[in-house]
Amino acid sequence: MLVLGIESSCDDTAAAVVKDGREIRSSVVSSQDFIHSKYGGVVPELASRRHIEAIIPVVEEGLGVAGVTMDEIDGIAVTKGPGLVGSILIGLSFAKALGYARKIPLTGVNHILAHPFAAFLSEKDAPPAAAPRFPAVALVVSGGHTTLIRMDTYLEYEVIGRTIDDAAGEAFDKSAKLLGIPYPGGPAMNRLAEKGRRDAFAFTRPYLKKGSLDFSFSGIKTAVLRHVNTLKDSNALDETAIEDLSASFQEAVVDVLLRKALWALEVSDTPDLIIAGGVACNSRLRERALELGEDKGLNITIPDKKLCGDNAAFVAGAGYWRLKDGLTEGLELNAIPSFF
Ligand code: KG4
Ligand code: ZN
Repeated sequence: MLVLGIESSCDDTAAAVVKDGREIRSSVVSSQDFIHSKYGGVVPELASRRHIEAIIPVVEEGLGVAGVTMDEIDGIAVTKGPGLVGSILIGLSFAKALGYARKIPLTGVNHILAHPFAAFLSEKDAPPAAAPRFPAVALVVSGGHTTLIRMDTYLEYEVIGRTIDDAAGEAFDKSAKLLGIPYPGGPAMNRLAEKGRRDAFAFTRPYLKKGSLDFSFSGIKTAVLRHVNTLKDSNALDETAIEDLSASFQEAVVDVLLRKALWALEVSDTPDLIIAGGVACNSRLRERALELGEDKGLNITIPDKKLCGDNAAFVAGAGYWRLKDGLTEGLELNAIPSFF
């Protein structure tokens, strides 16, 4: 079954063609970073306008790279939320119109629940990914969400933890902004952290109560602000201090993410962990997760970096299982901007 995935929930317009929920035939992502970086965050109105310009060429490119026409597409999977309502509606309306006109089954996909499906994908002609087994715990760490999900099957899940304030990626981006790094600052902070000392600055680890699967990152972000102000007062906010601060901040975030993921595996009684979402590109998180997997005999899957950030391949991957099960939707399908 060839599924066309369409994603437009935030600031990336993406299309992909995926075979049988596993094999990526194409994955095209048109980023809007160049539009939003000067504003320090995503400007919703500009994002929607750019999606309108990009959606047709991006879908055409997705089909072209895969070497298929719409006649060969068996189903369409589109992100229905969560995200910016104006952005979601562009991809959603386009997908609905396309499905209706071509009489192709359509399904709406939840973006956060779809992120972990990147772990089941592999490139065409590459050996198939060693897929996680069920039940699995998925840690989705993105710009808008930090969520722990217990996946019992491809279709059955339960959200078992989430952030009560900032998401991990948001904490990276806001902390980076305090250091003068343009949006999205997460990747740049990661690069700076690679040169810094991880124990140079004190950061408490907000575990909330022992065993809690919820997250809170706003305190760590405020601690960055306090350190920045102290450094500025003594004229010491130089390159080394920024690298050290980035490394110390990053270590605290990674400690919390992995500790909570471990607790989630314990209560779910499984060794299978998927880490997905843009923050899963973080080199320290990837390194520490793999060490943890070896130490504790866990089966930890972190998708390729290009599949961790937003793309439509994981949307097609998640949508495949819904379409296969007959979970299709018609023109009544609407955007659902919030997760809870
Ligand atoms: O999943 P994603 O592409 O979009 C959302 O659904 O939000 O995640 C984007 C987030 C941004 O906050 C970005 O700064 C963060 O992922 N990010 C990183 C890294 N690469 C992307 N954060 C830390 N280290 C990275 N290497
Ligand atoms: Zn995302």
